[in-house]
Amino acid sequence: MSGVRIERQGNVAILLIDNPPVNAMNADIRQGLIAGISEASVDEQIAALVVVGAGKSFISGADLAEFDGAIPEPSYRETLAALEECPKPVVAVLHGTALGAGVEVALACHYRVAIEGVRIGFPEITLGIVPGAGATQRLPRLVGAIPALNMLVGGVPVTAKAALDMGLIDAIAVGDPVEAGVRHALGIIESGFGTRPTRAIELSASGFGESEIAECMAAHKRALKGRSTQNALIEALKSAVTLPFDEGIEAEKRLSDLSLASRESQALRHMFFAERESSRVPGISRDLKPLPIQTVAVIGAGTMGSGIAMAFSNAGFSVILVDANLEGLERGRQIIRSNYEGNAKRGRMTAEQAEAAIAQIVTTIDMSDIGSADLIVEAVFENMALKKDVLGAVDKLAPAHAIIASNTSSLSVTELAGATGRPDKVVGLHFFSPAHVMKLLEIVRGDLTSSETLLTALDIAKRIKKIPAVSGDGFGFIGNRMMLDGAFREAEQMLLEGAAIDQIDGAIEAFGFAMGPGRVNDMAGVDIGTLVRQQLALRAKRADPYCIVSDTLTPMGRVGQKAGKGFYNYSVDPRVGAMDPEVTQVIERLASERGIARRAFTDGEIVERFVLQLINVGAEILAEGVAYRAADIDVVWVHGFGFPRHLGGPMFHADTLGLGKVLERVQHWQGIFGDYWKPSPLLVELAAADSSFAAYDRNRT
Ligand SMILES: NC(=O)c1ccc[n+]([C@@H]2O[C@H](COP(=O)([O-])OP(=O)(O)OC[C@H]3O[C@@H](n4cnc5c(N)ncnc54)[C@H](O)[C@@H]3O)[C@@H](O)[C@H]2O)c1
Repeated sequence: MSGVRIERQGNVAILLIDNPPVNAMNADIRQGLIAGISEASVDEQIAALVVVGAGKSFISGADLAEFDGAIPEPSYRETLAALEECPKPVVAVLHGTALGAGVEVALACHYRVAIEGVRIGFPEITLGIVPGAGATQRLPRLVGAIPALNMLVGGVPVTAKAALDMGLIDAIAVGDPVEAGVRHALGIIESGFGTRPTRAIELSASGFGESEIAECMAAHKRALKGRSTQNALIEALKSAVTLPFDEGIEAEKRLSDLSLASRESQALRHMFFAERESSRVPGISRDLKPLPIQTVAVIGAGTMGSGIAMAFSNAGFSVILVDANLEGLERGRQIIRSNYEGNAKRGRMTAEQAEAAIAQIVTTIDMSDIGSADLIVEAVFENMALKKDVLGAVDKLAPAHAIIASNTSSLSVTELAGATGRPDKVVGLHFFSPAHVMKLLEIVRGDLTSSETLLTALDIAKRIKKIPAVSGDGFGFIGNRMMLDGAFREAEQMLLEGAAIDQIDGAIEAFGFAMGPGRVNDMAGVDIGTLVRQQLALRAKRADPYCIVSDTLTPMGRVGQKAGKGFYNYSVDPRVGAMDPEVTQVIERLASERGIARRAFTDGEIVERFVLQLINVGAEILAEGVAYRAADIDVVWVHGFGFPRHLGGPMFHADTLGLGKVLERVQHWQGIFGDYWKPSPLLVELAAADSSFAAYDRNRT
């Protein structure tokens, strides 16, 4: 059973926290700590205590599963009070990862030693949670209110050195944590130092004024866009500097409880679990093992191929990058070089490391060099005939055990697999641009893709630090289908009806997307979307007007930033587009040809129609089985398309709105526009049952 083991070394009691694998804090540990403290308190042989983790870590954080209901007894507050009020000095040893509740335990101890290499931090903000076990009251007493706010709002762990400099810990040690703790405890006993409750430290409000707070928040502005947890953290710290400790703790508890119940926190925790769950695919036997992949060949050294090569190389794979001709290869080399050199310029690596990373990727125009590859990722032009040719050639040259993947964004993986003699070993690995940066990897399962191939693809995703989402082999897979059939089609429909592109982008960005559809198109290339739609049209037809504005701009050469003009004009500032009357004229013409009357829009209508379309097409994809879980769709949209994480992805957001309400609004628009607003039968079914996508997912797993 997990909990706390009590050991002794001379007159030092060691409370050894043991809950593998990472010592997550739970009721057993709290119980064990209280028991250990009361035992050591009355034991006359014991002069000091050491709290330390067994294994590789101190307490890595709270057991999140406990937060779903009432947190089981004994409470955090009772446990930490027991530590702080212990009549004998208590030394915490922080090692490995010491996060959240773990650090709160350490703050309630009287002394803190950190082992070199430790990461100490409060990641709660990333889950929308205000820590509830004294962090906001004890941390400022040790480090000052502004540094405490900075650490709590930033959520990024600090090193032992930084923790020492800020006064969070008393000393840094190396070697075995238990020995280091005992050494420190013996030193305290010898020096005759006593207990040192953090709560007793005086804290003043000076230096914690509105201007200092504003300055601190400005440093975190980007990460906090659309968020509100930081306001509760500020309030908790204001309580720390103005109220007596016990009242401050009360205030923190109230704010922490409110944060846990908030939609923001529920959405962020949903994403946390969705990201873990997305790599679990039902129906794969536990006995199956992923194939060992070490050498990867990437075919096509373009935008995607170069990024994909970097993603694999960065993760320690041997990488061979192949292109059809020397110009293509040279362009790929340049992309790779400028990326690594950019990293070096920004101080993310040294110039030598950048050179080594560039040299690491072998480049060639000789396809027969793929003979040693365990995995081949094809990233040539988006064209079925060409890709079939390339996969056929790869099939002949690659070893029999090798997996063949395609980075296609629109073509049928099943059809591509047919060009090889090993369709069971063919899979879609749909990277997002830039491939070495974007976290999402859509894994597309063709009709014949084997479980072993799928499992290997999931393993690869983990090794290259991507978040996978498994998709069936349908039109546009999960992401592009929802984008094209849902949100972007609707955005273009609204353009025809009279909304201006800068109003649409502004409204969608204010909702929380990183970029609105006009700016996304201009950045990615309006022609890329057109190309994808042309390929998709070979699989399925869509009624006019379907992204007709984009498909009119493309042949005009208005293909986006790279051409200096797209939805916007970039002649004045290449990064910030200006409205262009030519685009407005095109839109007005397209609207008049279709008899669409133009009118003014509110931002509210724009956001509603954009988001409802995502939800409705998402429900269709679920019902078709293209996505297995609603949560997988959320992963795709948050990590591939910039849907605001604090709203939890489109399907979680639908649950937040209430599916009854969602259906009612979809039906409202169906009444005006007809067919393409037809509610998905799954949405109708779940709404009628007063159910949710979350419940749908739970019933599946
Ligand atoms: N650009 C994106 O945002 C994006 C995102 C996801 C997926 N994709 C997909 O990735 C693939 C590549 O797209 P891209 O934007 O990198 O294209 P790109 O035009 O930048 O690069 C394609 C490269 O393939 C090379 N090539 C062509 N035929 C070849 C052959 N027979 N053998 C070897 N190399 C050959 C070309 O020389 C070129 O260097 C496409 O299937 C595309 O749909 C693109």
